[in-house]
Amino acid sequence: MTDFKSQIDLQKLPKHVAVIMDGNGRWAKRTGMPRIFGHRNGVKAVRETTEAAAEIGVKYLTLYAFSTENWSRPEAEVNALMTLLVATLGKELKTLTKNDIRLNAIGDLKRLPKDCYNELIKVIDQTKHHQRMTLTLALNYSGRWEIQDAMRKAAFAFKSGDVVNIEELDIEQYLSTQGLPDPEFLIRTSGEQRLSNYLLWQLAYAEFYFTEVMWPDFRKDDFYKALLDYQDRERRFGKTSEQLNV
Ligand code: IPE
Ligand code: IPE
Ligand code: MG
Repeated sequence: MTDFKSQIDLQKLPKHVAVIMDGNGRWAKRTGMPRIFGHRNGVKAVRETTEAAAEIGVKYLTLYAFSTENWSRPEAEVNALMTLLVATLGKELKTLTKNDIRLNAIGDLKRLPKDCYNELIKVIDQTKHHQRMTLTLALNYSGRWEIQDAMRKAAFAFKSGDVVNIEELDIEQYLSTQGLPDPEFLIRTSGEQRLSNYLLWQLAYAEFYFTEVMWPDFRKDDFYKALLDYQDRERRFGKTSEQLNV
């Protein structure tokens, strides 16, 4: 098997990788199992991806775990997902501590079920001094919700201030990702090629990577393979290739 990890140029790592973990339901259905079986098997992929990112030196990893639109799924699936989240957070504290990883969360967290919210806040607090990597879970998150929320906060703050001079940095301080650098790289599993309302502002200049691998099958090597693909890209930010290569 190809050793992807050893081929990665450590000087050219993205600081922040965002992931849309997709395909749990289809993965389960393929073997005649209920969708929640896929979600349960997705937990291993979360652990592998988190460890892979920390081990190679990625500083920020942001995983899309539940969108504001996911509330429209059958109630039983939503409940099962929330239960799984509480159980997983408790169990993964060991992995986070062992790897010196700080947990963070973005989204409309107050609307999560109480036990979920409490567990989340507890693990965030228990890992707040960890420094190797920040793992952010996007929970009850959507890009449009975030922009709406930012506008509400900004309107309040700017009530008596100078609205004409609002700049990018002013907007960023009201986003839930405030303090995190923009992701340079986005990975989506399961062959779907869309954003599904993820990090709409922050992904403005990210490189996108789509793989057919279903989330429950995603392993460290899949992550490293994706990083190698990223390192082959030329990020131009509006300039020409010639300008970059002088
Ligand atoms: C991703 O897998 C997990 C969540 C959205 C919570 P899906 O549940 O979307 O799986 P598919 O896309 O239906 O296969
Ligand atoms: C996006 O996946 C949300 C998460 C991964 C949590 P979905 O599977 O819900 O996205 P759509 O609805 O198919 O676009
Ligand atoms: Mg899906």
